[in-house]
Amino acid sequence: MTQSTERLSTGQDGLERAAALLRQGALVAFPTETVYGLGADATNARAVARIFAVKGRPEFNPLIVHLGALSQVQALVHWNDRAEALAEAFWPGPLTMVLPLREHAPVSKLVSAGLNTLAVRLPAAEVAHDLLTRFGGPVAAPSANRSGQVSPTRAEHVTASLGDQIEAVVDGGRCAVGLESTIVGLAGAPTLMRPGGVTTEALQAVLGRPLAKRRDSEAISAPGQLRSHYAPRARVRLNAADWEEGEARLGLGDVDCDLNLSASGDLTEAAANLFEHLIALDQSGADVIAVSPVPHAGLGVAINDRLSRAAAER
Ligand code: TXA
Ligand code: MG
Repeated sequence: MTQSTERLSTGQDGLERAAALLRQGALVAFPTETVYGLGADATNARAVARIFAVKGRPEFNPLIVHLGALSQVQALVHWNDRAEALAEAFWPGPLTMVLPLREHAPVSKLVSAGLNTLAVRLPAAEVAHDLLTRFGGPVAAPSANRSGQVSPTRAEHVTASLGDQIEAVVDGGRCAVGLESTIVGLAGAPTLMRPGGVTTEALQAVLGRPLAKRRDSEAISAPGQLRSHYAPRARVRLNAADWEEGEARLGLGDVDCDLNLSASGDLTEAAANLFEHLIALDQSGADVIAVSPVPHAGLGVAINDRLSRAAAER
């Protein structure tokens, strides 16, 4: 999709261009106070799928959604008193809150990796805030580096890591915090999911209670392993070369089926459809969801990772 990465300024022209590119479904890296994020329109499943392709992520980790205003956050998640207290104390800033996702929130299921929670953050950096306000909607953004590399704190780090795979990078110089945001789970008992820019002590002082720590067995690096991770009610049969009576049929490529991940076999399109289609077929009430073979290359690795979890014995 991209020839060479546009380097945009933090002036009005640069940020207007960045917002326009996001609207077109392009990937735009931008500075926050923590690290550079690799941004995509969170309502555009295909743009979100490209984030995973470009990062070379072998699994679909859920992504943080960045917004410019509190009212926009509250339209996506179920807000509560603890979130309100933390927002008053630390937003905008390097704090991410994980809250219950509203049922019809206009965010691609790939953003939350099918979970019923959503990670949300209001960044403090002026450039990020300005871009998000111009764009006017939710922006999904992991750190703007290839999977397994350190998070970028300068525009040069982004281009060194991602090369010309992304449409643009907004060059805002060095990130002030240089460390990712603190992630707090607020869907149940307040839980520290990742230490970061806001200290545990500061959080506990506001909450008036100790934060639970996420157990090692639930490592944040692999939330796809969590039991709470979306798993269909139906049994999942993989590598289906043909269909059996009564199965819900999830196809890939030129096959007759109920829903097709991508009729042309495009793996970015398949990733964009994966969670939405699994959920839709599960809701159709079939006992078994049969899935066409998915090539084990590129985004196919992450798709197969997710499918094999969905198919695992429970
Ligand atoms: O400072 C930051 O947070 C940066 C900037 C760009 O905002 N972003 C960042 O994103 O560090 P990323 O994708 O590298 O890390 C996000 C973490 C992942 O470990 C992911 O598993 C976790 O957030 N996460 C996202 N949504 C979640 C959810 N619903 N439940 C649990 N964990 C979640
Ligand atoms: Mg990261």
